[in-house]
Amino acid sequence: MAGEPVSPLPAWQTLTDEQSRRWTEVLAHVTNALPAGAVTVVVDGGTAHAAVVADRLADALHRGGRPCARLTDRAPVVDEDNWRADGTVDTVAVADGPRWRARPPTGEWDVVVWLRTPPVGPSTNGGRGPECDIVVDLHDPTWPVIRHLADRLAPQERWYLSESRAFFATRAATWDTKFGDDLPAYAAAVTEAGLAEGGVVVDIGCGTGRALPALRDAVGPHGVVIGLDLTPQMLTAAHAHAGRADADLILGDARHLPLADASVDAVFAAGLLTHLPDPESGLRELARITRPGGRLVLFHPSGRAALAARHGRPLRPDEPLAETRLRGTTARAGWRLLGYDDPPHRFFATAVRQRG
Ligand SMILES: C[S@@+](CC[C@H](N)C(=O)[O-])C[C@H]1O[C@@H](n2cnc3c(N)ncnc32)[C@H](O)[C@@H]1O
Repeated sequence: MAGEPVSPLPAWQTLTDEQSRRWTEVLAHVTNALPAGAVTVVVDGGTAHAAVVADRLADALHRGGRPCARLTDRAPVVDEDNWRADGTVDTVAVADGPRWRARPPTGEWDVVVWLRTPPVGPSTNGGRGPECDIVVDLHDPTWPVIRHLADRLAPQERWYLSESRAFFATRAATWDTKFGDDLPAYAAAVTEAGLAEGGVVVDIGCGTGRALPALRDAVGPHGVVIGLDLTPQMLTAAHAHAGRADADLILGDARHLPLADASVDAVFAAGLLTHLPDPESGLRELARITRPGGRLVLFHPSGRAALAARHGRPLRPDEPLAETRLRGTTARAGWRLLGYDDPPHRFFATAVRQRG
């Protein structure tokens, strides 16, 4: 599949302070995730960048006081000989590229880092690469973002917040221009959900607030509309829609909502669930704030198959929004699924909050 060309990785000195901090944060997540002992790491994918990223990783390890041997493609035999001769019990060997990936010097790599860059095609497993432990998105080479880090290396709690925010922060300013045509689909979904007039509705993961005006129309002038999001830049971009909708905006995390038990009549969540590390406990938290009989509306302006195709990845049967899985997770989290619709032009599921 064709894609945008890969732009070169800019030299560190040309990065802004914010971009250097981003790189430093990502490298820290990766170095902190490496197991103790003599570990072998290969950086693969995004072939134009793998060597530079491996160099940066080696630098970060050195700066952190961890012995590191750099196995390069320039002098592989010499590098490997030096590493075998000089490596200590906790030396990290860092290699890069497909040549090293195919020939692990100790039988297998302890950690495989995959750089996700365009073009992305089905052969790259949706850009993840086969059997990799860490995926770093480098579509913007000044702004790396970790999209996957194996649980065996580090609990999601350590990296999810910074990486999720970093992912959406750079998308906030252009979100509405890019996806503006979807507004009627949001309005139609909110109308179809049949929310009660005068109720309290929260849009969790509201992004730029595209659904807020439709939610205001649904609950009317006596209702309350709240938009909540994890990413400050999204909330900044949400001011226009929120103003039009007379909605309050809250900076918060869907996993620990700053709202009382049974305090809302309806939760709207578009494009949120698949971004939560543990969708079932996320659904449980949404249930906690919803009164018995209240509604949950899960929406996306593309069906699951259409979205997967757009991202060049296969549709996995175990994804959080797959019908069988969602039926189970909603039930265990305190909801009863009422409707499920997944044609190409939208994803739309509704559920009712169970008593108890
Ligand atoms: C795919 S965007 C959808 C935005 C908006 N709902 C829309 O449909 O345009 C996902 C949004 O969820 C937010 N988000 C991700 N994880 C979150 C969390 N744990 N709590 C609250 N918001 C979160 C992101 O910041 C982002 O704005």
